[in-house]
Amino acid sequence: MSNESLANLLKEERRFAPPAELAASANVTADAYAQASEDRLAFWAEQARRLSWAVEPTETLDWSNPPFAKWFADGKLNVAYNCVDRHVEAGNGDRVAIHFEGEPGDSRAITYAQLKDEVSRAANALQELGVAKGDRVAVYLPMIPEAVVSMLACARIGAAHSVVFGGFSADAVASRIQDADAKVVITADGGYRRGKPSALKPAIDEALTKVDGVQKVLVVRRTGEEVAWTEGRDVWWHELVDAQSAEHTPEAHDAEQPLFILYTSGTTGKPKGILHTSGGYLTQASYTHHAVFDLKPETDVYWCTADIGWVTGHSYIVYGPLANGATQVIYEGTPDTPHQGRFWEIVQKYGVTILYTAPTAIRTFMKWGDDIPARYDLSSLRVLGSVGEPINPEAWVWYREHIGAGRTPIVDTWWQTETGAMMISPLPGVTETKPGSAQRALPGIAATVVDDEANEVPNGSGGYLVLTEPWPSMLRTIWGDDQRYIDTYWSRFEGRYFAGDGAKKDEDGDIWLLGRVDDVMLVSGHNISTTEVESALVGHPAVAESAVVGASDATTGQAIVAFVILRGSASNSEELVAELRNHVGRTLGPIAKPKQIKVVSELPKTRSGKIMRRLLRDIAEGREVGDTTTLADSTVMNLIQSQLPAGA
Ligand code: WT7
Repeated sequence: MSNESLANLLKEERRFAPPAELAASANVTADAYAQASEDRLAFWAEQARRLSWAVEPTETLDWSNPPFAKWFADGKLNVAYNCVDRHVEAGNGDRVAIHFEGEPGDSRAITYAQLKDEVSRAANALQELGVAKGDRVAVYLPMIPEAVVSMLACARIGAAHSVVFGGFSADAVASRIQDADAKVVITADGGYRRGKPSALKPAIDEALTKVDGVQKVLVVRRTGEEVAWTEGRDVWWHELVDAQSAEHTPEAHDAEQPLFILYTSGTTGKPKGILHTSGGYLTQASYTHHAVFDLKPETDVYWCTADIGWVTGHSYIVYGPLANGATQVIYEGTPDTPHQGRFWEIVQKYGVTILYTAPTAIRTFMKWGDDIPARYDLSSLRVLGSVGEPINPEAWVWYREHIGAGRTPIVDTWWQTETGAMMISPLPGVTETKPGSAQRALPGIAATVVDDEANEVPNGSGGYLVLTEPWPSMLRTIWGDDQRYIDTYWSRFEGRYFAGDGAKKDEDGDIWLLGRVDDVMLVSGHNISTTEVESALVGHPAVAESAVVGASDATTGQAIVAFVILRGSASNSEELVAELRNHVGRTLGPIAKPKQIKVVSELPKTRSGKIMRRLLRDIAEGREVGDTTTLADSTVMNLIQSQLPAGA
């Protein structure tokens, strides 16, 4: 297979049928599509029965006041009971819920019975601190079991959590605490990252000099490093929580009880507090985790490598897997500490069967070399998932070959913080997969691609991704700002949810995601997606990663500027750059040839691994680089600039 055919998305012709054995015993078969399209609401009402309700809902969807949805509104349930207690009551208390692997190598196995006790103690502790149903609790923790326990303890008492990613600065934490009006903050002295303790509490101490309303700070001791202490406000977790009773009665809450707020930064403006509620959210998190990963709770070992501070961690570390009684791995640290084989060592150690990670990680593993995963026994793996960005076909194929031994299905799952759970994805026992495409809306989900005038595009054409029917785990609003909710998502196309992503339908009607619409380039009147040019570049054997931007250009409107990281074996030369330009021209057509290609050693990424093209556009257009506060590594922009010739 030549590299040209790897890269051209719509000409991608490789197909991978589901393994026969998986198809034969799959949790979900092709019937689900038929059943859901016959009666979508009946389908979701049936999925809601996956949960244990204190009061069974009789009503499925209330859409009488769009775009404000209510799902299962007359039902009552306790989300924490569903994630923990009911598995213990069903006789599975000895099953491991969490295999925790700390970065320094410490590990802990926590059974469902132990998790139930710990969540109950934490719920009692929060109540002792004055947290009541309807309050908000901010959580600023490393990837340790107490993060899961904290979220479930909030859910248990009906307080909404607002998890703030541990890598965010004091200012970012302060604005989120203020917007949610949190009463209590749960944090830790620190966590381990890149082989060292990394402090967390100082950011909370600083944030709380800027906002009012926080009465107590509950502090987990993780690293043992010294911390500043505010008497009367700060409380140690091990002193307060450990002293509580392990009995706590889970009250039944309304299906629409707020479960959490999670902030998405977006590219501009104040962060949006995305509000999710209980019954519909848990229904879809649980169903999709069951369907898309084919989880068999008795035998699978599941591992999602996301941080709990992102929605992926909420839905596919905490709520989906635990509602399904899964055994999972939680890893605290970075993939290259203490060595670049750490992930594969963990897969081997725990016999991980289902792995869910992001394209940015996969491309990093490609860059580190095929020989690293090859040193480990990865034969336990049976389903591989991807989320967060479009996955380049080249990375998809590498993932399948080098991690999945050419055997495992890959599920490329499209969704957003706002959608709460997966929306578009193959089903591993049903779908014949195509590298680079998320393919088809899941059963019960309605998605399509429309043009500027809101007309559905024919197969073979591109436009904007929209969701045409409400879904159970949809955001209910932007916290405190209903108008912004309407304006951002429901005003671009009448009656349809605008996702902000560009997409194409191929000749089979399968959906290919093309990145955020802000990232689409307009070159001499042609819409060209950054994702397609990036995939073409990554399809060349010399390229490990790339980021493409449109820079304003006097003649063509925008000109394509590509930043590339070379693979270890390749070296920068004028010939190589010329070859890469021609390679893109051959794969996508001459119009897509980058005007400039800049070889760099790093790309600017957010903490969740998304490329910040805005900053690269600043460089490409010769401007001063804009706000870099959400970068994972704030020194990257200086590094990139130092690698470019002056005036480039
Ligand atoms: C945006 C949402 C979903 C949890 C993590 C990110 C992009 C996400 C895919 C995918 C193509 C994807 C979209 C989306 N995205 N998954 N499989 N293929 N693009 O959540 O931070 O809210 O970001 O991530 O652009 O709109 P998020």
